[in-house]
Amino acid sequence: MRVYNFSPGPSMLPLPVLERAAREMCDYNGTGMSVMEMSHRGKPFMQIMENTQNLLRELMNIPEDYEVLFVQGGASMQFAMIPLNLMTTGAAAYIDSGNFAHNALVEAQRYGRVDVLASSKADTYAYIPDYDVNDIADDASYLYITTNNTIFGTRYIELPKPKNGIPLVADMSSNILSQPYDVRDFGLIYAGVQKNMGPAGMAVVIVRKDLIGKAGANVPKMLNFQTYADNNSMFNTPPAYTIYMTGLVLEWLKEQGGVEGIYQKNVEKAQILYDFLDQSEKFRPLAKKEHRSLMNVTFVSPDAETDARFVAEAAKAGLQTLKGHRIAGGMRASIYNAMPKEGVEALVNFMADFEKTI
Ligand SMILES: Cc1ncc(COP(=O)(O)O)c(C=O)c1O
Repeated sequence: MRVYNFSPGPSMLPLPVLERAAREMCDYNGTGMSVMEMSHRGKPFMQIMENTQNLLRELMNIPEDYEVLFVQGGASMQFAMIPLNLMTTGAAAYIDSGNFAHNALVEAQRYGRVDVLASSKADTYAYIPDYDVNDIADDASYLYITTNNTIFGTRYIELPKPKNGIPLVADMSSNILSQPYDVRDFGLIYAGVQKNMGPAGMAVVIVRKDLIGKAGANVPKMLNFQTYADNNSMFNTPPAYTIYMTGLVLEWLKEQGGVEGIYQKNVEKAQILYDFLDQSEKFRPLAKKEHRSLMNVTFVSPDAETDARFVAEAAKAGLQTLKGHRIAGGMRASIYNAMPKEGVEALVNFMADFEKTI
């Protein structure tokens, strides 16, 4: 029996995608072998690669002057690759809106001057901090943000608009493809794929072509975006199975009405949960209302002991992985694209029953 899995990542994949992958596991498209076994230089895999890239371009409406790169090392490796490739002036501005934003800025400090434009760290990142783009130094190479803060359940409703052509760089790991974005608002977007796109094993990087090719001579080849751009992300053996699975997820997403279609469903799902939390006398949402995430809903019960009982009893009822991150405490329901509305309804029904026992 499948459960409703509220894991923040790796997280639920659409069932039709898993079923199709299972069907194609031992014999992909008449090749007599699985995608895991085939040469990445052969025609069948080259077609998978092209299909995955094209689908992403189509779904996100990615303009021609942007590269679409597949890079191993997860989202965290981008914390280093971004300054190594883009911090050409030796300085950049960061907004510290969560744990991963913080990790990214700490990593960037190894490579140059990091100006923290704003931070909500002192308030356990319960909101997106106020910032003023006029405070960005003229010599900043880019402004870095995390569009959705996975651990704390917040997101930017409006994007910062840096002046003087300073590009916006975004970690979109936990909300890529969940709501419409205009790629042109960004110089670079990246996302670890293990939440809304596929199994763990790589990050997708969407980068404006003029921003790359400027890395220092001592930057390792495998950490240079230009290497990926020049070699169609196949300078070395790519994470082939992850690319294939990502392609299947993107096909599924297209069938859901694309990003606009799934966005409507995501708004509806999140609303069900927030509406319940807002009227509940025992559960309390953690994120500031104006900045609530559509993907990660954080909340607490009256005390830590009840939180633990809730998580344990929910798991027994088939509602799994609801424990909050250790830094935030409480609970977190991650309701990415693949979480059906029925899963959210089941959670709310369970919470309503549980509430009576508190
Ligand atoms: C917003 C965000 N950035 C970065 C990361 C780190 O991802 P990875 O484990 O792929 O390095 C995560 C992981 O959950 C995340 O949610």
